[in-house]
Amino acid sequence: MSRQVCAACSREYAETDPRLQCECGGLLELRHDRSSLSGAKLRALFGSRAFVSGVWRYREMVLPTAGDDVVTYPEGNTPLLRRPTVTAWAGATDLLLKHEGHNPTGSFKDRGMTVGLTHARRIGATAVACASTGNTGAALGAYAALAGLPALAFVPKGHVASGKLMQLLAYGVRTLLVRGDFDACQELALASSDQLGVYILNSINPFRLEGQKTIVFEILQQLDWEPPDWIVVPAGNLGNTAAFGKALAEARDWGLITKLPRIAAVQAEGAAPFALSYREGFVRRHRVEPRTVASAIRIGNPASYERAVRAIRETDGVVTTVPDADLLEAKAVIDAAGAGCEPASAASVAGTRRLIQEGIISAGARVVAVLTGHLLKDPESVIRYHQETEPTPPDANRPIEIEPRLADVERVLATK
Ligand code: F0G
Repeated sequence: MSRQVCAACSREYAETDPRLQCECGGLLELRHDRSSLSGAKLRALFGSRAFVSGVWRYREMVLPTAGDDVVTYPEGNTPLLRRPTVTAWAGATDLLLKHEGHNPTGSFKDRGMTVGLTHARRIGATAVACASTGNTGAALGAYAALAGLPALAFVPKGHVASGKLMQLLAYGVRTLLVRGDFDACQELALASSDQLGVYILNSINPFRLEGQKTIVFEILQQLDWEPPDWIVVPAGNLGNTAAFGKALAEARDWGLITKLPRIAAVQAEGAAPFALSYREGFVRRHRVEPRTVASAIRIGNPASYERAVRAIRETDGVVTTVPDADLLEAKAVIDAAGAGCEPASAASVAGTRRLIQEGIISAGARVVAVLTGHLLKDPESVIRYHQETEPTPPDANRPIEIEPRLADVERVLATK
């Protein structure tokens, strides 16, 4: 049996109850009955399913009642990378990069969408919608196409990277360019769900979070269930931070691990309401006017605030910020290592460096930094950094124009 429980007042609802929020306004979360299998048996079971989706491999902990009729690409099974230049830049010794950009639509959102669309189909939704800075909408579009459902996305006009906008159009999403920021899009999407009867698949939807938990399960499995000391994650709307906390608590409660890694959530300095609250001991929730080059996390009023607070508290976690300049420098190092990521993703590596410099993460700790989105999501940011930024960043890779002459090639190769 699985059920939905309000995180604020503990009221319970049936798993298939289509409401988005509790009567009291609190956000819902799923509780699954603990499997009768021991932690060791579950580890062996998950290990025997290495070939399937990196989400549904963990179905007992994601959506045990889903059966085989799931809307899957498949997704997940993303690599855990070690890149010496990135490790050195961060001042770490044991840094691993969980590259969620290797998902089918290029971001971690696919893990939540496979569960979201599977559930949308179970409850007979006729259309799905989300507010998005781009990635959620792209994943929604691809999975709605798989499920044969129409999709609608509310995105902030002028603040969606071109790779993502291109995906929205290509996958056939009805794309509303809202003259406002992401927070306005989110409010509008919620209001329309009530009035238009569309099923909202933002990360306030508890089924999305169940899928996103598998980033953590997969990291743990890739490390043979030896938890790292830290998991560092970029933080915007706080869906991932919340999902990571839930995943870790469940992995411990279900006997998969005994020690909890600490979560570090990293925000862009100009869009850091969660970090503001953290510094005050979470006594109050903040809303800010968001400003950052990392358009994915340009969010001033994160929806999953409450449950992310719990995730930080439960894992003895921290919240920090990084200026855009550091984030772009980290991105350039990750890109030049051949890994590549979009700007928001690099917040995890820039945040790791900051926390090591401050002595919060010890230099010898095993750290997993999550890269949330693919390099190709945001081509403009790369062109700007390498070709247009003044003063030229030290690692800018300027293209060199030449005539079709061997002499020109020789001249270029002779200069460093
Ligand atoms: N990184 C990327 C690449 C994202 O797209 C997002 C969120 C985040 C980090 C932050 O994750 O919201 O769970 O804290 N993107 C959402 C979207 C808002 O609409 O695509 P979070």
